Amino acid sequence: MKAIVFGAGHGIGYSLSLYLSRIGYQVVATYRKKENASDLLSKSEIKSFQLDPLNQDSLNSLVDELKEIQFDLFINCIGVLTIKSSPEKNIRALNLETMEEVFRVNTFITPLLVQAFKKNISRKKETHFVVLSAKVGSIEDNNIGGSYSYRASKTALNMFMKNFSNEFRNLKIPCKFLSIHPGTTHTELSKNYLKGIKHTVWSSDDTARHIFEVIQSSKNYASGDFVNWDGSVLPW
Ligand SMILES: NC(=O)c1ccc[n+]([C@@H]2O[C@H](COP(=O)([O-])OP(=O)(O)OC[C@H]3O[C@@H](n4cnc5c(N)ncnc54)[C@H](OP(=O)(O)O)[C@@H]3O)[C@@H](O)[C@H]2O)c1
Repeated sequence: MKAIVFGAGHGIGYSLSLYLSRIGYQVVATYRKKENASDLLSKSEIKSFQLDPLNQDSLNSLVDELKEIQFDLFINCIGVLTIKSSPEKNIRALNLETMEEVFRVNTFITPLLVQAFKKNISRKKETHFVVLSAKVGSIEDNNIGGSYSYRASKTALNMFMKNFSNEFRNLKIPCKFLSIHPGTTHTELSKNYLKGIKHTVWSSDDTARHIFEVIQSSKNYASGDFVNWDGSVLPW
């Protein structure tokens, strides 16, 4: 079995790469900043590539490198909570630069990856294309507001995933798209925002296992579903 994990330099993506490798997958992992990826780069069993998916030349060169490989599993773990300042608490905090950058990373990278790696998806055997979304992207579940760009970027990501599920079904390509909320996890992204959280904050190794368990039980989900780390389906 072959997996590719995007955004594996640290955090959940790194733990997922290790987990998948330990259970026997051949793992290709991508990272952006070398200085943040030293643990990954020390793992000779994982084939690592530097990738900036928002740079077309960088994307083209990886696509060319991997063109012979059909992956069973794609997982995009790239994401940002905010840039520069804290997530926006109110209207005053909104600015175009942050909104654009959060959407570029959280929403637009996934469609660029699906488009770029479509030829690496088998037309015959089942493939999974998973993204790490976030429960706060659920419109129905949003009763407290805040984190404007992060929430909205994940909601829009879920819509891209749902659209891919429809298009691939029409194309009769057996690829299942899943948007998974990984659960609150101690990582660079979350570390400054964990104070006062009442529910469990998982380690990224725990979260990697939870995500894989969801993928393994994917027969319980339709392609395009938004699924919680514990296996429950989340409301849109
Ligand atoms: N941690 C949580 O509690 C939690 C909860 C819900 C959802 N999530 C989601 O889970 C995913 C993984 O997050 P994490 O907690 O593991 O955070 P993390 O440790 O900060 O990892 C984020 C990853 O995204 C990469 N990245 C950020 N901007 C990028 C860009 N412009 N181009 C390429 N790569 C970029 C980072 O690479 P660099 O080191 O190069 O920046 C890093 O590999 C995210 O989508 C996040 O929204 C996390």
